Amino acid sequence: METFLVTGGAGFIGSNLVRHLLKAYPNHRIINLDALTYAGNPANLADLAHEPRHVFVQGNICNRELVEYLFTTYDIRGVFHLAAESHVDNSIADPSVFMQTNLIGTFTLVHAAYRHWMTGPFAVKPAYASCRFHHTSTDEVYGTLGETGLFTETTPYAPNPPYAASKAGADFIVRSYFHTFGLNATISNCSNNYGPRQHAEKLIPTVIRKALSGKPIPIYGDGKNIRDWLHVDDHCTALTQIHAQGQAGETYNIGSRNEQDNNAIAAMLCNLLDEQHPQGAPHAKLISYVKDRPGHDRRYAIDPSKLETALGWQPQHDFTTGLRDTVAWYVAQHATTAKAA
Ligand SMILES: NC(=O)c1ccc[n+]([C@@H]2O[C@H](COP(=O)([O-])OP(=O)(O)OC[C@H]3O[C@@H](n4cnc5c(N)ncnc54)[C@H](O)[C@@H]3O)[C@@H](O)[C@H]2O)c1
Repeated sequence: METFLVTGGAGFIGSNLVRHLLKAYPNHRIINLDALTYAGNPANLADLAHEPRHVFVQGNICNRELVEYLFTTYDIRGVFHLAAESHVDNSIADPSVFMQTNLIGTFTLVHAAYRHWMTGPFAVKPAYASCRFHHTSTDEVYGTLGETGLFTETTPYAPNPPYAASKAGADFIVRSYFHTFGLNATISNCSNNYGPRQHAEKLIPTVIRKALSGKPIPIYGDGKNIRDWLHVDDHCTALTQIHAQGQAGETYNIGSRNEQDNNAIAAMLCNLLDEQHPQGAPHAKLISYVKDRPGHDRRYAIDPSKLETALGWQPQHDFTTGLRDTVAWYVAQHATTAKAA
């Protein structure tokens, strides 16, 4: 049985990706390496407890011995690297762990893949010729846009917050292993994701959680910061396709041409909550503007043409339906938690 390594598989995107890979590759085993930081949630994997093809390993991607042990023991034949410190606000409060995990962790993994799959620069062991390392990155590496324009794969990197700088550095580490050693590696830079199992600290779960508890819904600054929102399942299909069919050494931008500002997101969520969980007054009354995040990037927008043209990828989720289903998922979670309390 062939084995893939997924890192960060107890987090938001990783836990959705593990499910996706188990379906897409019915004869593969998935080793899921996750440190279970505050952002990793074992409950995200609860329904996989009896799946023999899913092996969860609690551990740090910076732990070289552990990473090498996993490569050797399970003879890893493909990597989907997602483990990261991922919240911009936290990177402003304390950047150090971002540098450790996102830079050193990525280096540790990519170097282990190189050692396991190759005997030296541009010398792949024949049995490992098709093994690929995929690094999952963000559109935030490109900096911020004005009112017009889109990020393409050739947009110069200009990361602003420490989170984006650490991801940009990780992208460059992976790039160097392709150019210097010939490692079969790909990189993707994706826009903001939404969907089930996202950590409570992120925008959409925060708006829903605060609204459901009748507390003020905090929106940074004037709420006019724009992001390009993609359903997490569409991100997972893109990652799978890039890993299977992408060109070694290439970067692919992932997005769905769905620009929304934070005011629009908050308003849509409140309307959906009015429908799904009415509590008397409209939830939008709870929206409350708070001091902006320092250096808050104004607009991100992705041009996904390369992925669409080269690999035929297309997002399948319509935003209105995807957001409605997402709200229903968090409302159900909230009800379960309230019952248990
Ligand atoms: N969420 C988004 O909108 C988005 C968009 C583009 C790219 N990304 C990228 O996708 C990846 C996953 O993002 P997410 O939103 O699922 O993040 P997340 O914060 O929900 O999950 C990250 C996971 O990584 C684990 N982790 C953290 N440090 C670790 C370490 N040192 N060793 C092992 N595991 C560790 C955590 O326990 C957690 O389970 C990240 O690399 C992120 O940069 C996210």
